[in-house]
Amino acid sequence: MRILVVGATGTIGAPLSDALEARGHEVLRAGSSGDGLTVDLADPESIGALYEATGSLDGVVCAAGVARFGALEDLDDEGFQESLDNKLMGQVNLVRRGLATVEEGGSFTLTSGGLSQTPAPGTVAVSMVGAAVEMFARAAALDLQGRFRVNVVSPGWVAESRVKAGLQPMPGIWAKDLAEYYVDLIEGDESGLVVNAEAAKS
Ligand SMILES: NC(=O)c1ccc[n+]([C@@H]2O[C@H](COP(=O)([O-])OP(=O)(O)OC[C@H]3O[C@@H](n4cnc5c(N)ncnc54)[C@H](OP(=O)(O)O)[C@@H]3O)[C@@H](O)[C@H]2O)c1
Repeated sequence: MRILVVGATGTIGAPLSDALEARGHEVLRAGSSGDGLTVDLADPESIGALYEATGSLDGVVCAAGVARFGALEDLDDEGFQESLDNKLMGQVNLVRRGLATVEEGGSFTLTSGGLSQTPAPGTVAVSMVGAAVEMFARAAALDLQGRFRVNVVSPGWVAESRVKAGLQPMPGIWAKDLAEYYVDLIEGDESGLVVNAEAAKS
């Protein structure tokens, strides 16, 4: 399959792109900057330009999306708006704009996060947009039934990110183990699923 990975330079996206390539897929890697394919999820025109650059695809994966941490009374208008524009509408627009470029039978695989279902203090925008991404995918899958598949991976805290934050890697999920959840959804035939990925599959 010819698969676009948005966020392909990231903690989740890089090993996921490698895993897809190792399984024989052609992977088009996009980040927010650099010499390769670039896109700003918060800018719908930039998403359109990305699809013009890729040409026909069999699948799109989003392993990107910025949402702001902060408590309800600390987060300002800009913090909420950035979260809505980037992690939520960025992924929504990847699907909307991608329908003309992804071949029928293809898939979209989006990313939310464990906070979408189990919020914690100081995560109001992150939890809100993650939950919206999940419900978007479930509803969009109904509209696109039989033509395109839409699914979401909801990662727990990635072990590499925990280490970067100065914590023990566990309880976390290593990015290479997380990649298996994405690969299964991309290669499978299900749609409208939100898959919680908090530990290695086996
Ligand atoms: N890591 C975790 O523990 C964890 C847990 C649950 C959910 N998530 C979610 O998973 C997603 C990816 O997380 P991550 O930890 O892999 O992030 P990351 O390591 O910071 O990587 C982010 C990726 O997204 C790209 N990117 C940044 N801003 C962008 C924009 N405006 N438009 C398009 N691409 C952009 C980056 O490209 P450049 O390198 O070119 O800037 C990079 O490839 C995020 O939505 C995050 O909330 C992560």
